[in-house]
Amino acid sequence: MKDLSATKLIALVGMCDGKEQYLAHLLANRMDVEIYSIKKFYSHLFEATLYPDLCFLDMSEDVSRSFMLLGSLKTLNIPTICILPSGIGLALELRCLSGGAYDVMYWPESKSEILKKTDFIFHNTIFEQLVFDKHVNREKHVSDKDNIDTLMHQILSSLSVSIDAKDSYTQGHSLRVALYSTILGKECGLDDESLTLLHYSALMHDIGKIGMPDAVLRKPGKLSDEERKIIQTHPTIGYDILKTITLMPDMSLVARFHHERWDGTGYPDGLDGVDIPLYARIVSIADAFDAMTSERSYRKPLTFEEAGKEILACKGTQFDPQLVEISSDIIQRYISNGKVLTFDDVLSTTA
Ligand SMILES: [Fe+2]
Repeated sequence: MKDLSATKLIALVGMCDGKEQYLAHLLANRMDVEIYSIKKFYSHLFEATLYPDLCFLDMSEDVSRSFMLLGSLKTLNIPTICILPSGIGLALELRCLSGGAYDVMYWPESKSEILKKTDFIFHNTIFEQLVFDKHVNREKHVSDKDNIDTLMHQILSSLSVSIDAKDSYTQGHSLRVALYSTILGKECGLDDESLTLLHYSALMHDIGKIGMPDAVLRKPGKLSDEERKIIQTHPTIGYDILKTITLMPDMSLVARFHHERWDGTGYPDGLDGVDIPLYARIVSIADAFDAMTSERSYRKPLTFEEAGKEILACKGTQFDPQLVEISSDIIQRYISNGKVLTFDDVLSTTA
């Protein structure tokens, strides 16, 4: 059985209004205390890089995501104290307890009560079993992770082929957009974990096209206003398809926002500037670059150099100006002595 005298790690998750500082100050001299947003905590759980001994989860902000997280914590046998706003009523308390909370606490709570609840959990015999189960779970979780990553990559790659198969002129489009996005993301300094999420998000950016009629999607000529309106629903359709994948919210956000423009004239929501999520801004450039350098029924593909100039011309209007600068540097690097590199050249450069 786990050595219970070892230093305990307490995670404070999704806190607001200074609760995290208060609790960290109160508990820090007795245990290790770490503070996380719900999103960051989720990604640590998913990556199996964090197994706290006790979790304080604030239920007053993002209630639906907090309950989803509570379910995951229950599955992983991580004891959790839910923090509820005072005067909220019994219904939420019962929902927390039936959803897997070890205990609840109404805020503000006195120091002595907080310490009493914490000590009670650590000295309860049930805690020993929870810790034991948790470490058994952890070993299994870590050993399964490599297989899950491989499976995830294979599923999304084959799904991207299905998306591109809707249109004979977009074969390999999603894979190339994922590749270009990852190159750009890497140049932006994203870490490996973020690059993986960006890669998956880019693979799925056009998944909403699965719901588009073939007659519109494969129409060789110019689209009518009515047909354009139909095509412009693919970001929201994609968002609706992907939004249930709550462990990777970036996928649904990229699907929804990859046709937004920096100047706010894009669709579907007319977001502008940095309100457009970073991954969507990256995929937007990669998407346009691949569209321009791929063959279409009505035009020949542009060279990398020509497409690079087009991207530069849309700096600050369609695209994030900083990302355009970084993209231009990358494209220049791939064009040497008047020779335009092929996709395979790009691939081998990043391998
Ligand atoms: Fe799209």
